[in-house]
Amino acid sequence: MATSKLHFVILAAGLGKRMHSKLPKVLHPVLFRPMLHHVLDLVGSVAHESVVVVVGHGADDVKKACSSYKEIQWVEQKEQLGTAHAVLMAEGVLGKKNGYVIVMAGDAPLISKKTLSELVDAHEKAGAEASVATATIANATGYGRIVRGASGVLTDIREHADGSPTELAINEVNSGLYCFKAESLFPVLHKIENKNKQKEYYLPDAVRILVAQGKKVVPFSIADSGEIHGINDRAALAQVEALLKERVNHKLMMEGVTLSDPKTISVDPSCRIASDVTIENGCILVNSQVESGAHIESNCRILNSRVHKGARIKQGSYLEESEVGENASVGPYAHLRPGSILREGVKIGNFVETKKAVMGKNSKASHLSYIGDAEIGANVNLGCGFITCNFDGSPKKNKTVIEDDVFVGSDSQTVAPVTIGKGSYVASGSTITDNVPPDSLALSRGRQVTKPGYGKKYLRK
Ligand code: UD1
Ligand code: CA
Repeated sequence: MATSKLHFVILAAGLGKRMHSKLPKVLHPVLFRPMLHHVLDLVGSVAHESVVVVVGHGADDVKKACSSYKEIQWVEQKEQLGTAHAVLMAEGVLGKKNGYVIVMAGDAPLISKKTLSELVDAHEKAGAEASVATATIANATGYGRIVRGASGVLTDIREHADGSPTELAINEVNSGLYCFKAESLFPVLHKIENKNKQKEYYLPDAVRILVAQGKKVVPFSIADSGEIHGINDRAALAQVEALLKERVNHKLMMEGVTLSDPKTISVDPSCRIASDVTIENGCILVNSQVESGAHIESNCRILNSRVHKGARIKQGSYLEESEVGENASVGPYAHLRPGSILREGVKIGNFVETKKAVMGKNSKASHLSYIGDAEIGANVNLGCGFITCNFDGSPKKNKTVIEDDVFVGSDSQTVAPVTIGKGSYVASGSTITDNVPPDSLALSRGRQVTKPGYGKKYLRK
């Protein structure tokens, strides 16, 4: 990668008219994250000095959605007068810098790190004033066409709206990714006019002006043309998502992850999935980590969570901000809500919901339970239908503590705040409202009354 300093300008001010949406275009999700995040992650993966993002439509929403990217310098483009005008908004921040300015569109999230690095390397090697990444595609509709002179040298870029039939027949297009020498970018932007069909200040016009000045402008052709896909409407959104999904899934498989029916599996690229993990069809994983040997059965959704070695997440389970310990098992059809921490060997069975709950080593809640705001020790058995009653109508939730080795019989409740001491036994059908000291038996249910012969009497009625 380049020895010079890199400065990025990301264009994200457009309305995205063709999306027909209230949401700014760059915030539409691709694999469950705003498309702009993918571009920012790419920028974050290479050494650089500055990142300027040009915002306009929905500026506040865009800034908020990207608040975790701390180094961004935001500049506003109040009126969307075109891509050259948009880059000009960065002059205040970058006008006096040296090094290279890389311009990218916020609506093209498939550009790879390899392409970016190669573009910068080629630019540096050629000692060019500007480089434009191009690609040859079957359907060039909507893209700017790469116009080359007699000897094949780049001379101009013609926008689709302004192209002559001969120009529109060209299928080498502008990707919207450029590298400029910092010192030459802003002077040329000031020279660009809006004398075209769309009355916009086109950034691609910088090519013609630099060439006319005798400056070196080089095209860099991207090997995988799929990378340049821009998102202008929802059909392109779906296409780009499918391409990204395929890329992420392919990489995972090459790294030793088994995916059954990969077309149905969506893994956000920020996930970390170890080798020898199996993911079955229909799963969605976002911002999560899955360690070696874990197995995710079909139709699970795992968000912001971590699944440790050898754990099994059974069909139809939903995990949010949770942790599943080594060799633990969850589901089928379990819901781990934020703050659920299951230690090694824990078993959470079908129709169990947990929230802000720690379950100690080898503890079990195998059927039909709600465990919220709870601290459960090791080797605890929570019987079928156990419920922590954590909510008394006030905003504050109350805590249940169940110490190690406790056995809680089926159909019991704890009315929190309450503690059940180590080694205690709660009889089934009990409602526990008072603390239970260690090694005790607690039962709270009416005694059974049995009346011989009454069965016949009642049934005959
Ligand atoms: C642009 C290029 C075209 C190229 C294509 C690649 C121009 C004039 N055309 O066309 O040559 O083939 O990208 O995808 O540059 N934006 C602003 N402010 C503005 C206008 C646009 O920030 O005033 C932003 C948009 O939000 C978008 C990006 O710039 O993220 C590209 O703009 P868009 O209108 O989508 O350009 P295209 O028609 O796709
Ligand atoms: Ca576009």
